Amino acid sequence: MSDCESLERQILDAVASAADDAALEQVRVAALGKKGSISELLKTLGGMTPDQRKENGPKFNGLRDRVTIAITERRSALAAAALDAKLAFERIDVTLPVRPESRGTIHPVSQVTDEIIAIFADLGFAVAEGPDVEFDDYNFTKLNTPPDHPARQMQDTFYVNPQADGASHVLRTQTSAVQVRTMLVQKPPIRIIAPGRTYRCDSDATHSPMFHQVEGLVVDESTHLGHLKWVLEEFSKAFFEIDHVELRARPSYFPFTEPSLEWDIRCDRSGGQIKFGVGEDWLEVFGSGMVNPKVLENCGIDPTKYQGYAFGGGIDRMAMLKYGIPDIRSFFESDLRWLKAYGFSALALPTLDGGL
Ligand code: DAH
Repeated sequence: MSDCESLERQILDAVASAADDAALEQVRVAALGKKGSISELLKTLGGMTPDQRKENGPKFNGLRDRVTIAITERRSALAAAALDAKLAFERIDVTLPVRPESRGTIHPVSQVTDEIIAIFADLGFAVAEGPDVEFDDYNFTKLNTPPDHPARQMQDTFYVNPQADGASHVLRTQTSAVQVRTMLVQKPPIRIIAPGRTYRCDSDATHSPMFHQVEGLVVDESTHLGHLKWVLEEFSKAFFEIDHVELRARPSYFPFTEPSLEWDIRCDRSGGQIKFGVGEDWLEVFGSGMVNPKVLENCGIDPTKYQGYAFGGGIDRMAMLKYGIPDIRSFFESDLRWLKAYGFSALALPTLDGGL
């Protein structure tokens, strides 16, 4: 075997046995670096006679090319092996059952929101959203409550400092603002619910400065209070998981509805536990009414052609009623013991056929 051949064998062996990038780099420098064995060999061509050069040139260059290719291939093989090892190490078997001891729970407000969405989705309602920091105009004025309107006193509003654009903002006091947002961009027929956070400066066992409401809005050419009653009854039956409910309507006042009604549900609170559909007590569940024609007009909808009904209720309140939670403030105290007691399993997805 010539010197050239034995050098090649030696280098290729070293390439093949280089265990990682660093070792391979050492082999490369030793062979092809400035002072490497192959570079030194190539330098000798300069001192050779033309005939010697003709014979050795192709040999030496061939040696350099084969070694270069071997190093490149070895480098990719090492990279592929490293990736395989990493993937094998990070492998997750998604078919394994969830560990029973998993600690996180779904907050009752999230659970109840999902229940409400599931029920209304089944009744054909889409979900609409709006921001927590809302234009005063959408939260009040377009809902027929201009700045000097006495109904502004009904809610203790958190006002936000004036903005650069001159518009005044509030922390929305009601999800009714989403009615405005929806009507401004959507032509009837409209059938939406809007669950979300709302804010009022108020705090006791049944009031929290941040709480949750769900709004409902239906606008078309012929909908009426009968439809509203049916929808609220169907909702209440599904939500409280009972076959029979009784709702009672009381006349009320909201600036954005005319006429306005509040709905109470028949229940029994004797014996420390609440039962719905029976008993002599009544608990308020929803405010509602026919959308005031002025509101339709303010939102660019022709009140001579279209009419609608709207309703709104407190999600936290519904959660308290359904799951027997006595104080609204406990929802937002982040007490881990409370969350463990009242939280839901991450896999308990509410569906109408699977159970709420
Ligand atoms: N926004 C009202 C409140 O916060 C609730 C309400 C009443 C919503 C009547 C409505 C409605 O859509 O029609 O007290």
